[in-house]
Amino acid sequence: MKQDKQLIVIFGATGDLAKRKLLPALLRLLRRGELGAATPIVCLGRKDLATAQYFEWLQMERFLPDDEPEVLQRFARLLHYRRFDLESGTDQCLREILASFADVFAAGNMLFYLALPTDTFTAVARLLKPLLQGPGWKRVVFEKPFGSDLPSAERLNAVISSAMNEEQIFRVDHYLGKELVQNILFLRFANEIFCCSWNRDAIDNVQITVSETLGVEERAGYYDGSGAIRDMLQNHLLQLLSFTAMEPPGSGSSDAIRDEAARVLEKLRRPMAEDVVVGQYGGGAVGDQVIRPYVQEDGVPADSSTETYVAVRAFVDTPRWQDVPFYLRTGKRLDRRYAEIRIIFKQHRCDGMVRNDKPNMIVIRIQPDEGIALAFNVRRPGSENESESVLMDFCHHCHFGPNTPEAYEAIMASVMRGDPLLFTRWDWLQASWRYIDQLRAVMPTVAVYQPGTSGPAEADELLRIDGRSWLQPM
Ligand code: BG6
Repeated sequence: MKQDKQLIVIFGATGDLAKRKLLPALLRLLRRGELGAATPIVCLGRKDLATAQYFEWLQMERFLPDDEPEVLQRFARLLHYRRFDLESGTDQCLREILASFADVFAAGNMLFYLALPTDTFTAVARLLKPLLQGPGWKRVVFEKPFGSDLPSAERLNAVISSAMNEEQIFRVDHYLGKELVQNILFLRFANEIFCCSWNRDAIDNVQITVSETLGVEERAGYYDGSGAIRDMLQNHLLQLLSFTAMEPPGSGSSDAIRDEAARVLEKLRRPMAEDVVVGQYGGGAVGDQVIRPYVQEDGVPADSSTETYVAVRAFVDTPRWQDVPFYLRTGKRLDRRYAEIRIIFKQHRCDGMVRNDKPNMIVIRIQPDEGIALAFNVRRPGSENESESVLMDFCHHCHFGPNTPEAYEAIMASVMRGDPLLFTRWDWLQASWRYIDQLRAVMPTVAVYQPGTSGPAEADELLRIDGRSWLQPM
């Protein structure tokens, strides 16, 4: 849907997120005709730059085919860089900057994107408060992390809620913008064959993995104070769990869906020490690359005990899921980059009829190679009663083409539409922090793991004592 007459304001415009994700997402939306040609994008940063210099620094041509210079020119015309220092800038200065886009400002539709560290959120919320009145809609987008534990998230939410109402607040979890994450609900609720077996009678366990090959890169300052539990588990993995485990919503409305997603986290069983494993990558060779241990990364204290890996066994205490383990794991510097949800079914044996059958499995491949696979047993040709597990495999880009919107495009488009579905509601966030605080209170000391592996051996043990093992992608 094309939205004319709106002002997009990006705080933190000289940061990595704006450069790598937000502006490329807006460029692609413009290219697809989903961003109005009269939408000024006001980029605010501390540096003293002319718009032309800023545009050059963005290197936006990387995100377009060579033969589309005209799109780039159109985008350049929308972009306006302005110097704005959060420490000294006042709401009056900000108003003056925005009022210079007179007719759009008068129409009043404004999207403020805070691509900023969480400790600036309260100051920006106060700064924005006087601008959030008047005609048109006002929407404020907060990047993660939203707090660092339940008390800090509550304090932050209290300040923000005194400056704006919940309908104006959009808390980002970019995993919700990923196409295959949005597909979880379709798979479950638009397919009779799956919806009836999505429960403890049929399912043995669920494994959710987000595995990364990169290390902490240039983000040690943030990451060392956060760690894998708060950086990834609290948001992305718990969102995947919520969509996988939620009850059918009463309707397709964003609120009905988010009600059910929040209920999943409220029903999470309090974790025990034996339900969690944490690890930190050590050094070593991965292929022809020599990897430094986490504690020798730039900006990381030599005695840091921050976890770069976490695996947990979680239980959702509802009649649907009673005693079905959900195993969640994520880590940096692992052997491969992928994110998937694996639903592993129980094995029902027809005694004597079939040999060698394997459990049925549904694999939702979030990235890369987005798709959904179903493993089932067929008869091995020429054998008497021998079976073989085979796949029905839906490949997203083979069917829909390679131009699937990137997560941040979906996020941006949703804010412009005012659709809150892809954003985290406060009750969900509160429940997620409550669980994370409980988990952090019982977590053991970090186990060092070899880079380029699937994580610490202790994580294998977590499943082995349940008589199971992690299943790796094929
Ligand atoms: C971010 C985390 O939220 O997600 C990063 O802060 C992580 O540490 C990233 O690398 C992973 O996102 P994606 O989309 O690359 O899987």
